[in-house]
Amino acid sequence: MTDNTQATPGFSHEKVETSNFLMIVLILLVVAIGGLVEIVPLFFQKSTTEAVTGVKPYTALQLMGRDVYLREGCYNCHSQMIRPFRAETLRYGHYSVAGEFVYDHPFQWGSKRTGPDLHRVGGKYSDEWHRIHLNNPRDVVPESNMPAYPWLEKAAVDPAEVAPRMQALRRVGVPYSDAEIAAAAADVKGRTEQDALVAYLQSLGRALK
Ligand code: HEC
Repeated sequence: MTDNTQATPGFSHEKVETSNFLMIVLILLVVAIGGLVEIVPLFFQKSTTEAVTGVKPYTALQLMGRDVYLREGCYNCHSQMIRPFRAETLRYGHYSVAGEFVYDHPFQWGSKRTGPDLHRVGGKYSDEWHRIHLNNPRDVVPESNMPAYPWLEKAAVDPAEVAPRMQALRRVGVPYSDAEIAAAAADVKGRTEQDALVAYLQSLGRALK
């Protein structure tokens, strides 16, 4: 039988395994390198940093609708991320790809699906359908347990709120031009929050239909 208690000459694993300090430091080092190798390339790959053809920054109205979507917590019941599985693509259409979300800050992928995924809902229904559905989902889907959002029809979008949002998004890389930002307030003037939300929903996922 060999004698296992004898230390190996040179580098000794035993030294690492019996020292809390060394063990912790080396584990952190390994995890940090592993993490960097996975994360850093995502900031430079074309497929994750460039918009796929057809994806454009949200218009002023769509952008305000997106804010209503966030404020009302629609993401608590709806994901916007179609996974690359047959059951998903048959139901919703082409699976979601990273290049479709480059102008989304923050993205609305989510994972909670009390209702259906909404990533490709754009163009699926008419604007009128969405209006009726938002005012009272039961009017178009009798078995629906989605809450009604009737106040959106009466709430006006505040034109003064659009330009600062577009400027903030420009700072994180969304290519809004000065002209677009200057025209933003006029674009949403007199529109309701329901108009904005419907415009946002109709814009979703149309690039890879
Ligand atoms: C409590 C969970 C819940 C919340 C919150 C919720 N929904 Fe829904 N939603 C559902 C369910 C369930 C359905 C499926 C039945 C139906 O069509 O009404 C649905 C369906 C939809 C559909 C139709 C999707 C399709 O492909 O048929 C749209 C569009 C939609 N919701 C938008 C929204 C928006 C916008 C908000 C936020 C203002 C919202 N939902 C908030 C549960 C929810």
